[in-house]
Amino acid sequence: MLSLRGLAVLLTSASLCLGAPSKDCAFKPKETIAPPRGWVKHSSPNADHNVVLRIGLPQPNFHVLEQHLYEVSDPDHERYGDHLSKEEVEELVAPHQESIDAVDAWLSSHGIAESDVTRSPAKDWVTLKIPVSLVEKMLDTKYHVWKHTSSDDYLVRTTSYSLPSDLHDHIDVIQPTTTFGRFKGAKSTFIFDDEPESSVSDATKSTLAPIVNAASGVTVDASCNTTITVTCLQQLYNAVGFKPKAKGNSIGITGYLEQFANIQDLQSFYADQRPDALNSSFKFISVKGGLNNQTLAEAGAEANLDVQFAFGISHPIPGTFYSTAGRPPFIPSVGTPTDTNEPYTDWLDFVLSHPNLPLAISSSYGDEEETVPESFARRACAGFAQLGVRGVSVMFSSGDGGVGDGDPNPATQECFTNDGRNTTKFIPGFPASCPFVTAVGGTQNINPEVAVSRFFSGGGFSNYFKQPTYQKVAVEKYLEALPKGLYKGLFNPEGRAFPDVAAQGDRFRIFLSGRPVSIGGTSASSPAFTGFVALLNDVRLQNGQSSLGFLNPLIYKNGGAFNDITIGHNAGCGTPGFNATAGWDPVTGFGTPNFGKLKGVVSSH
Ligand SMILES: *[C@@H]1O[C@H](CO)[C@@H](O)[C@H](O)[C@H]1NC(C)=O
Ligand SMILES: *[C@@H]1O[C@H](CO)[C@@H](O)[C@H](O)[C@H]1NC(C)=O
Ligand SMILES: *[C@@H]1O[C@H](CO)[C@@H](O)[C@H](O)[C@H]1NC(C)=O
Ligand SMILES: *[C@@H]1O[C@H](CO)[C@@H](O)[C@H](O)[C@H]1NC(C)=O
Ligand SMILES: *[C@@H]1O[C@H](CO)[C@@H](O)[C@H](O)[C@H]1NC(C)=O
Repeated sequence: MLSLRGLAVLLTSASLCLGAPSKDCAFKPKETIAPPRGWVKHSSPNADHNVVLRIGLPQPNFHVLEQHLYEVSDPDHERYGDHLSKEEVEELVAPHQESIDAVDAWLSSHGIAESDVTRSPAKDWVTLKIPVSLVEKMLDTKYHVWKHTSSDDYLVRTTSYSLPSDLHDHIDVIQPTTTFGRFKGAKSTFIFDDEPESSVSDATKSTLAPIVNAASGVTVDASCNTTITVTCLQQLYNAVGFKPKAKGNSIGITGYLEQFANIQDLQSFYADQRPDALNSSFKFISVKGGLNNQTLAEAGAEANLDVQFAFGISHPIPGTFYSTAGRPPFIPSVGTPTDTNEPYTDWLDFVLSHPNLPLAISSSYGDEEETVPESFARRACAGFAQLGVRGVSVMFSSGDGGVGDGDPNPATQECFTNDGRNTTKFIPGFPASCPFVTAVGGTQNINPEVAVSRFFSGGGFSNYFKQPTYQKVAVEKYLEALPKGLYKGLFNPEGRAFPDVAAQGDRFRIFLSGRPVSIGGTSASSPAFTGFVALLNDVRLQNGQSSLGFLNPLIYKNGGAFNDITIGHNAGCGTPGFNATAGWDPVTGFGTPNFGKLKGVVSSH
């Protein structure tokens, strides 16, 4: 009986496409892109070069999940804070059984067994590691090694792939195929800060009188105008004296690209700026083989920055650092390394399969939106929505390239579309452009605090994601005040606009390889902001309320709880970019947090 049933299943699926190709079995193009700017064909990959293929099955009920997300995140809705469980979310993103069956039949027709694949808990992603020669057969395509012209980045990619016609409705996306992202940390260069003064307490013993910040009305050490410490941020953002006490709170940092946070450097940082946190550390979690080499010289500037400031602000809230294996350095002439996807989808797979998650998570990584195919960007963005509806606040830095998330040097910025037409267009950053994350821009100086100018706070409008309802009023007000016709055709005024908020982003004093370093980038802004989100979660948990979860609907209804930044702009693409203005703007969002005010806001819903 069993074997007969097995045979019947096989026959049903097989009748679709095995044997003589019928109309339904013929390959039909699924996705085709123009060769992306800046990449040239280099060579053919070895036939046994391994590809970790990730197949996304449709999530037919995602719109229902989105509805839940907006209800539980809207402070005026009766379901505010009523987050969903892991199982409820999985049910909402599960594909139809027919899609699972159709994909399984296709894989088994290529000799791929169930034991060769891994599935996400909701079965909406199937992942398998196979040689590129087999991928080429399955997708009726040809892969090449591509080289980036102005760097040593190599990728194994194709510009077009096909699927049997009957599979088109059962597969949303397959990668790596057409993704040409370079996935950078949003960190500008850092300078070693071995000034004569050896500790920050010496540095802050300046003769300058403290400054009363006009926006927040609080007193700030004069040294904060040029050197940012944990104390500066507590003062500037009005959280002096607040001590987290709640049980069950947590905060997380993601690290990619072989970035490790060094525990010894963290202790040096604590000794310098947060002595009461000395001896405390964080939980390390390795994702897909992410490493954690604690040799001092191996510490990454990005990871150290994120961990030191996020955990320095939120101490003693328990912290977690995720090290996700990144793209290995890939040299096409040597061996056959595994070519991976954008690693944040690996990270999403991992965290979404766990029941307990950090309640506020910061990521300082991103790509130019146009280098991530829209289908793949949508799926990754849908993953962030799943975190939000489960009660996790997800922050991303907005990028350091102003309106063109490209070369940080404005003189050499070129913003051309990736579509082969070579027209000039602003280049938004992804995932900051995903409507389900909170994008954090950068500021500097105090009284006034202004948009950062050593590099430029990433901001603008998505070409993929339409403007979500929660931000329509704020964005329309900004666009109405924009000089008529300015930048017409350079950006999509109907797109998701970002950033949502901002925080200090330059001249952060951290420890790296045992030495104090001054570092900047919206890479600094996102973990700093996230530290304050963790404190706000503490306020709510102390009140017996839920965690905040997806923040944006709350932020856009309470813009007045932020210090409005009205000076500065975000140049890029050979233009001065957008201006910071009164109210929301695509440079600094609503501005920087006023913890004192936000405490009241989050307590009252
Ligand atoms: C802060 O630094 C900026 C830029 O260096 C300078 O223009 C401004 O006067 C300084 N503000 C104060 C209050 O010292
Ligand atoms: C950290 O540990 C050292 C050595 O055990 C101890 O002397 C010091 O008091 C500890 N500091 C804190 C803040 O716990
Ligand atoms: C850690 O880094 C050091 C220095 O680069 C190296 O010698 C050592 O082999 C690394 N350890 C591991 C486990 O990778
Ligand atoms: C795109 O246009 C710019 C400016 O017109 C030009 O410098 C560049 O060479 C063009 N690139 C391609 C690939 O056509
Ligand atoms: C920014 O402000 C300057 C000076 O007021 C103005 O000339 C420019 O048009 C503004 N740009 C935008 C994008 O609003």
